This record gives sequence, C-alpha cells and structure tokens, in this order.
Amino acid sequence: MTPALIIAKKRDGLELSREEIAAFVQGFARGEVPDYQMAALAMAVYLRGMTTEETAALTEEMLASGVRLSWRKKVDKHSTGGIGDKTSLILAPLLACCGLAVPMISGRGLGATGGTLDKLEAIPGFRTDLSLAEVQDITQRVGCVITGASDEIAPADKKLYALRDVTATVPSIPLITASIMSKKLAESLDALVLDVKFGSGAFMKSLAGARQLAHSLVSTGRRMGVRTTALLTDMNQPLGRMVGNLVEVHEALDILKGRGPADVWEVTRELGAELLVSTGVATDADAARTRLREEIESGRALAKFREMVLAQGGDLARLPAIGKGVNVTARRGGCVGEIETERLGLAIIELGGGRKKMGDAIDHSAGLEMLVRIGDTVQRGQRLAKLFGPEEKTSHVKPLIASAIDIQDSPRDPLPRIVERIE
Ligand code: URA
Repeated sequence: MTPALIIAKKRDGLELSREEIAAFVQGFARGEVPDYQMAALAMAVYLRGMTTEETAALTEEMLASGVRLSWRKKVDKHSTGGIGDKTSLILAPLLACCGLAVPMISGRGLGATGGTLDKLEAIPGFRTDLSLAEVQDITQRVGCVITGASDEIAPADKKLYALRDVTATVPSIPLITASIMSKKLAESLDALVLDVKFGSGAFMKSLAGARQLAHSLVSTGRRMGVRTTALLTDMNQPLGRMVGNLVEVHEALDILKGRGPADVWEVTRELGAELLVSTGVATDADAARTRLREEIESGRALAKFREMVLAQGGDLARLPAIGKGVNVTARRGGCVGEIETERLGLAIIELGGGRKKMGDAIDHSAGLEMLVRIGDTVQRGQRLAKLFGPEEKTSHVKPLIASAIDIQDSPRDPLPRIVERIE
C-alpha cells in the first residue's frame, strides 16, 4: 500500500476500494501511516465526499481498529456536535436508573463545538481515559460510564478526531458518520439514538444537510444490526443557558436536581424516550417520559451521576463554583433575531475553553451564560450574556459575543427544539 496513491485517488474524485480503505486506516491505527498523510486523506474526503460503500468501509475499518465491548441491553446516544449541549451528562445516569447499561464513548471539543469529555474533566479528578477493563467494570457495577476512545476502543477515531479538529476537515458526512459510528458500534449496542443538530452552531447548517447526515448515521447503524433512530434538533442558539465546561457541569447538575432550562430537559427526555421505547423498557413515548421524570424527581438520577463520577475518580465536593462573570450588554433595543452560535463556540475557544491546536490545555472555568433567547425583547443596555474566564481574555471576547447576537426591529418567533424524527 502506498498512502500517497490512495490520497491522490480520492483527491481526484475516484472511489476507494475496501482494501485501500482498510490498509490506510489499519496503517494509521498502528502508527505506520503518519498524521500528515491521514490529514491529507481527510481533506480529500472533505472535498470529494464518499459513496455509501466507502463510508461503510471506513466505519467498519475504524471499528475494527479496536475491540468491541460486549454486554446486554446496552444503549447510547451521540450528538453530531453543538454549543451548550450537556445532554450526555444527564442522559447516561438517567438511562442507567431505568435498568439499561450505558457504556458511553464520547469526544472532546471539535471545531467550535464543545466535547463531553472536556466538560467532565472540569470535575477535579474525573478520568476519561479508562481502560477496557475499567469501562466494563464500571458499566456493570454502576450502569453507566462516560469515557473517551482509547488505544483499545476505536483507536483510529481517537487519532483522526484530534487531527480533524485542527485541519478544517470536520463537517464531512462520511467522516462524521465513521467517527461517531465506529465508537458507538464498538460498544455492541442494542439501541442507539442520534441527536443530529442543524443551524448556525452545528456542522450541518441546513436542515436538509442534517437530514442527509441522519440518514447516513441511521442506515450505518441498522446495517450493523443496531436499532438506531435520530432526532433532528435545532442549534441556531445554544442549548440551555450555559456554554463552556465547568458551567455546563453545573447546568447538568441543575437538570438532575429537577431544575434548569426547559429546552435542555426537553431534548434529554426525548432522546431518552427513544431508547426506552426501542429497548422495550417503556411501551410508548408517554410512558417513557413519565419514567424519566420519576427518575429525576426521586433524586435517583442525581445519585447515579454522583456514583459514576466517584467510580471515575471525580470529586464533586471539589467542583469549583461559577465565577462572578462579566456582562455583555445590548447596544440597542429590539428583538433578538439571529444568533451566530458558532461564533459563541469560537469565543469559548478564545477564552481558553477549547483548543486551537492538538494538545492545547483547557481552562475549564472559561464559559458563557446566555441571558436571552431568539424572540426575546431587549432594551438598550440590557444584559445579553455573562462571560467567565480570565479578565484579559473576557475584555477581548466581549465584542465577539455582542456581534454574535443580532437585535432587530421586527419580532421573531422562537424555534422548536426538536424538528424531525428519522427512523
Ligand atoms: N462527534 C463525533 O464523535 N465525531 C464527529 O465527527 C462529530 C461529532
């Protein structure tokens, strides 16, 4: 196998064979194909796309780069990436309370979007680099675990994910499909739900693009024998109020305590209901919603989250409080129209809450609290958002946030969060 010839073939828009994809991915996972050649192939795929067969081969070869976990009644959800999306932190313990096993393999921040692993690492001591034996042990004992791809589980994605983040090769349907599905299929799941986001803070800006991605994900899951459904959810504004790492852990804790923003609960509940129905734990969506609410109201979901954090070495008693924050105010009165949500994610990276290059350290305290939503009426000088982070950075980022929130004269209707279901 000559990697440069395979890169050239994709660069020229030709279809790669399974053998070529297998040799490239396995070589990359073993460290024989260097990062720069993988990055070049990722760019060629980004520009030229992949056929369904190529995407399936890429997914299967990335899956085959590591072992597959095996348990019974295992479920998971994965999001295609958004801003303020902390649903995994709530859903994993919630589903474990319903008797399901949740061996969740999550990711770090990608492009402007936040990553579940980075959020959880805001909890002092929390480990996201568990060995296969630890993942199996914690899932069996506690019922849920949230960890990263490793040298044993989907190692090809572990390496390619980090490369894509810094080589502008993220928003590609085949690369997103193979990245998500290789991790999820490694868990040997019974059922999977995907949260496919569209809008200004998502990789897929249009509903049509998100629909195409959802079909690619769902058909890959079904082809591999996993009951897979997807919800298309709006990402034209952050999910909930908090965006960042530490602040999102606090907001997830609020939801687990039965408080917090309604939209975060709505998306979490609907994703959870998909899995309770798919696995037969609930007879229909209404019964599933009731069950999920009960697990929150009884305090069991919060207790399960604490148990998982403890099992992964985290110490919630040492979780830092949210800082005082710096206000971003409206330069004029009117109605909140568009929000450039991706720019909010980039602002978090500027504050130190995300990475500009592979291996950058994260400042978990960097964050943002949105104080307005699309459709809200605001007065001149009213607070739009609060910024958390080091003072020299917040003053630099303030104008970026203000410019991301468009205030118009005409009123705007708020958008529904969940727009479509794909089966
Ligand atoms: N989440 C992933 O795990 N991979 C992607 O490519 C996008 C979102």
